[in-house]
Amino acid sequence: MVSFLIAYASWSGNTEEVAEIIEETLLSEGIDVAMHRIGLAPLPNPRQFDAMIIGSFTWDKGATPDEVKEFVADIGYKPRNVYVFGTGDTQFGGEELFCHAAVKLARFYESAIEPLKIEQSPRGTQEQKVIEWLKGVVHHWQHLHALKY
Ligand SMILES: Cc1cc2nc3c(=O)[nH]c(=O)nc-3n(C[C@H](O)[C@H](O)[C@H](O)COP(=O)(O)O)c2cc1C
Repeated sequence: MVSFLIAYASWSGNTEEVAEIIEETLLSEGIDVAMHRIGLAPLPNPRQFDAMIIGSFTWDKGATPDEVKEFVADIGYKPRNVYVFGTGDTQFGGEELFCHAAVKLARFYESAIEPLKIEQSPRGTQEQKVIEWLKGVVHHWQHLHALKY
């Protein structure tokens, strides 16, 4: 069975909500999911999964939260097939710094899909945006898989 790791950091719950929508949607597509809240032991092994989806909020002036930086360092290598989502707030620095942590993570992991950026909570109108983005992720992964076999 295909399995995805969803690793996320969330302070006040918004990023966790996005992770939950992603989890529900993948499960409904028949994809197995492991949820990992970043900062909580034990550290997952991305090699045990077909793909990793990583999510983060953005902190002070576009900063990546320390626990996310530690997670990336503790994993210790750049897995292939990493997809990135983030939540943020355009009130903190406008479009330029909006979800900047997610933008930086996607660049670092050389993600093939643009990072998903959600303004605060995904519930309501942005829920569809999460689902559409995820369709693109699954489609991309399936395409890669088809090329491999
Ligand atoms: C002190 C502080 C600084 C923030 N700076 C940014 C920022 O630079 N860019 C951004 O997009 N969001 C920024 N935010 C907004 C959070 O990223 C946003 O509320 C996010 O949804 C929180 O995610 P969480 O509920 O999963 O913790 C900031 C929030 C706080 C409290």
